[in-house]
Amino acid sequence: MRVLIAGGAGYVGSRLVPALCERGYDVEVMDLLWFGNHLPPDVRVHQRDLFGVTEDDLRGFDQVIFLGGLSNDPMAEFSPAQNFVANGALPAYLAFVAKKAGVKRLIYASSCSVYGYTEDQLYTEDDPVTCGYPYGISKLQGERAALQLQDDTFSVIALRQGTVCGWSPRMRFDLIVNTMVKAALTTGTITVNNPSIWRPLLDIRDDVSAFTRAVQASYKLSGVFNVASGNFTVGQVADLVKEELERETSQRVKLDIRDVQDFRNYKVSCERATVELGFRPQYSVKDMVAEVMEHRADFGDFERDEFYNIRVFKKMA
Ligand SMILES: NC(=O)c1ccc[n+]([C@@H]2O[C@H](COP(=O)([O-])OP(=O)(O)OC[C@H]3O[C@@H](n4cnc5c(N)ncnc54)[C@H](O)[C@@H]3O)[C@@H](O)[C@H]2O)c1
Repeated sequence: MRVLIAGGAGYVGSRLVPALCERGYDVEVMDLLWFGNHLPPDVRVHQRDLFGVTEDDLRGFDQVIFLGGLSNDPMAEFSPAQNFVANGALPAYLAFVAKKAGVKRLIYASSCSVYGYTEDQLYTEDDPVTCGYPYGISKLQGERAALQLQDDTFSVIALRQGTVCGWSPRMRFDLIVNTMVKAALTTGTITVNNPSIWRPLLDIRDDVSAFTRAVQASYKLSGVFNVASGNFTVGQVADLVKEELERETSQRVKLDIRDVQDFRNYKVSCERATVELGFRPQYSVKDMVAEVMEHRADFGDFERDEFYNIRVFKKMA
């Protein structure tokens, strides 16, 4: 089966692509390489803007996975107009061209960010979403536009990912667990902006398995699926990172608890992904920390710009 991974050289793609190749899929990547290319050398990578993709480019692919666009709130807020185009219009265009080219499925990397600020409720995919900030709205736009094209010949699966954390060859230290690990290692202190805020977190290995299940699902299946390894408060995450790091390093880690307002607060049910996709998360926060720590020697200076999407993005502006 031929699979095109659009935006496949980023943080998620750098683990998903080798995993799909390992399973025998014929994978190609199209990516602008904003963060370099950390993929295995035998992967076919086309350094191209997805906006330039034509029907001819997509003919012959069975599935397209969209991992591109602007992938966090700081990038979206730095450039809101570009964000709406890259996260809303671009997946809509790609889904449109893919369907015309005879591609059988598009898998869209959506986000639990669409849920906004919620309290005391476990959100399912059928619950109303309340986000009012550029990143969340744009991910919802992309999801809805792609799903609009779904029919008997074209399956669309949108995976609403929790915050993905853990190790990738294209490493990010701007994701909650990774940020806390870096802070503890470099300053000995983890800053907790608001310990009561809820977040679904997704170990990057569980994310790879969610995308794999989506690729393998019956073409009759379409829809939106929450995917997370678990729901945690930010305070719980800090405690788990602290415990695991103290065990690994035998150094004391301090917590600096603050009370900063957050515009995102949500926990999600992954029942639909479990029942319909066979998604079974296996990892938790301590596993994310342990895998990052296994690769600690590779990172060098934690302050390198390439680890932080917003810094690279501002330099390109
Ligand atoms: N990482 C997370 O916690 C998380 C959570 C929820 C959803 N998501 C979504 O999952 C996807 C992947 O996330 P990630 O962390 O791997 O992001 P990333 O920023 O590491 O990678 C995005 C990749 O897309 C490429 N790209 C962007 N625009 C492009 C264009 N026009 N043409 C070609 N290439 C382009 C970039 O070069 C980059 O390699 C994103 O769509 C993101 O919004 C991520």
